[in-house]
Amino acid sequence: MSNDTVHGHHHDSSHGQRHESGHARHHGSDLDWDAIGPLLEKNAELSTGQYTEAARWIAGLPGAPEVRRVLDIGSGPGVVACLLAEVFPEAEVVAVDGTPALLERTRDRAKRLGLGDRVTTLHAELPDELDRAGEADLIWAGNALHHMGDQRSALAGFAGLLRPGGTLALVEGGLQPRHLPRDIGFGRPGLEERLDVIQAETFEQMRADLPGTKRETENWAALFTAVGLAPQGTRSFLLDLPAPLTEAARDHVIDNFTRRHESLGERLDAEDNAVLDRLTDPEDPAGLNRRTDTFLLLARTFHLGRKA
Ligand SMILES: C[S@@+](CC[C@H](N)C(=O)[O-])C[C@H]1O[C@@H](n2cnc3c(N)ncnc32)[C@H](O)[C@@H]1O
Repeated sequence: MSNDTVHGHHHDSSHGQRHESGHARHHGSDLDWDAIGPLLEKNAELSTGQYTEAARWIAGLPGAPEVRRVLDIGSGPGVVACLLAEVFPEAEVVAVDGTPALLERTRDRAKRLGLGDRVTTLHAELPDELDRAGEADLIWAGNALHHMGDQRSALAGFAGLLRPGGTLALVEGGLQPRHLPRDIGFGRPGLEERLDVIQAETFEQMRADLPGTKRETENWAALFTAVGLAPQGTRSFLLDLPAPLTEAARDHVIDNFTRRHESLGERLDAEDNAVLDRLTDPEDPAGLNRRTDTFLLLARTFHLGRKA
């Protein structure tokens, strides 16, 4: 499973209702990417340090050709696409995604950062329209591959677009985020572990519902080899924001708990739901808005492969 924290049986996060309100469902899944956009954006912004470190690792790989064209596959709100344009100053970066609202966020962000001439967007349904993205020296797929039913065939598609010597950076796996001590002083200790179990189940359901879904042993290095890429190593990068959190980080944690309460609450027992009610209540002295022990700790894992 991956730590993008957005899986589940989702409701429109602003109204707590299902999608009749006009948000489109995308890509054959039950996820409402438009509504998740702000959460994805904050999540990526808080991880800018990790992503920059990972991108510099790629830039420093011995023997890699100069990076002139980058594809950010499943680019979401474009935080990473802009960061890649900064780390690879000679490159044009194409943010490829199936959600128009997120591509719009990407264009706005690129313009704001003065990167509008080098960061462009491509609306594409993946993996079917992958070829429209064209070839690249670096393909970055951050928490995106697991949204494609046939991961092996999607990886083969990525490999097919890489120029000789080009790199695939796959962000999958890592460690689920932790935000609170095991015992928060009320309710049954171990809430986050229980949320993880339910999230793993909804992740599996999300995968089972994808078009053309195929079970695959997620041995990424072996799959790289199978599609003609030489594995270049795996590294995990830690996001470690200890308590007390900044306001921005705390607000993100509150958004994350609110979302998980809405999307996973029906699978939790009454006691855990009552705890989540208190945690997400801005006025509750033991809620996330007031408590001083909230932190953010997670790991993202990068798997690199090179085209011969
Ligand atoms: C979990 S988000 C990851 C966003 C970004 N890469 C990051 O790491 O912050 C997954 C992204 O993949 C896109 N996506 C999911 N399935 C897709 C598909 N079949 N075709 C195109 N885009 C897809 C969604 O719109 C969303 O922006």
